[in-house]
Amino acid sequence: MTILVTGGAGYIGGVTAERLKAKGERIVVLDDLSRGHRALVDKDVPFYHGCVGDRALVARILKEHKIEECVHFAALTYVGESVAEPARYFENNVQQGVAFIGALVEAGIRRVVFSSTCATYGEPEKIPIAETTPQWPKSPYGWSKLMMERVLASYDCAYGLKFMALRYFNAAGATEARGESHDPETHLVPNVLAAALGETTEVPVFGKNYPTPDGTAIRDYVHVVDLAEAHIRALDYLRQGGKSDFINLGTGQGYSVLEVIESARKVTGRPIPTRFEGPRAGDPAKLVADAAKARQVLGWKPLQSDMPAILKSQWEWRRKYPRGYSC
Ligand SMILES: NC(=O)c1ccc[n+]([C@@H]2O[C@H](COP(=O)([O-])OP(=O)(O)OC[C@H]3O[C@@H](n4cnc5c(N)ncnc54)[C@H](O)[C@@H]3O)[C@@H](O)[C@H]2O)c1
Repeated sequence: MTILVTGGAGYIGGVTAERLKAKGERIVVLDDLSRGHRALVDKDVPFYHGCVGDRALVARILKEHKIEECVHFAALTYVGESVAEPARYFENNVQQGVAFIGALVEAGIRRVVFSSTCATYGEPEKIPIAETTPQWPKSPYGWSKLMMERVLASYDCAYGLKFMALRYFNAAGATEARGESHDPETHLVPNVLAAALGETTEVPVFGKNYPTPDGTAIRDYVHVVDLAEAHIRALDYLRQGGKSDFINLGTGQGYSVLEVIESARKVTGRPIPTRFEGPRAGDPAKLVADAAKARQVLGWKPLQSDMPAILKSQWEWRRKYPRGYSC
């Protein structure tokens, strides 16, 4: 059984590929390297540099490697950027995504694990957020992911495609070999640690008047290794004939921006100066998962996702690889 991992040169895809390989699975990676790093993909893993929307390329990969299932991570992922450049997001995530899923179906592939997001919920009325919460995204990024969820559901009805849409909350943390490193970096944990290393003078804190106890936005952080484990379980579930579903991947515990920074000061022993800026477009006040369904359906629970453990893993990785993937 060979698994196609799209976006496998990216952060979560790279760590999931690492874990799949460690479990003895055969994988092939497709990534356009728009945000990924070639160095993230092991040399002995077949790698294709191209777009998921390139149907001819996808058809060739599926045939050459006798692919039977797919984990589809490839996407543009920044909320703020999607507000400024929606066309780029809909064209990359939806237009290319539809072409890609079409190529899979055409080749007879019927099992897909899809990277969805808590951003599909928008500003939810109730916290914690269960999968049944109405979805009304606040950003084109969130819409692009919700549209892909609908595409997958329609293709199940029409073509029998079985999928698991995993709605991640905030991925963070690192393995020994792979951590989070984007350019530009918009995520809190790597930015906080860059300030701890003195690479930046201050961490920007976006918004201080949210309706939360300390006024800063609250998120549910999940260790990237726990996320990878959930994908492995989702693949097993589909192999055993499980029905298509939508599942949150979160811990059920939220941390505010200021709490993350305070925890990072303790983990690193360094002062981390902050600077307040206005809230970012498309950013809700609080996103915390009801994580019960992942436990019930996949038997998954996050084992490494407490905040100090997340920060420690990314801190160790950053100090080992001071220049990220460019060294
Ligand atoms: N990081 C998070 O906290 C988070 C939260 C919720 C959902 N997600 C989703 O998880 C997935 C992975 O996120 P990540 O943080 O690892 O992002 P990432 O940017 O590190 O990885 C995405 C990868 O996809 C590649 N890519 C983008 N468009 C492509 C295309 N058209 N064809 C081929 N490759 C393409 C990029 O080069 C990159 O390597 C994304 O779908 C994202 O929306 C991430």
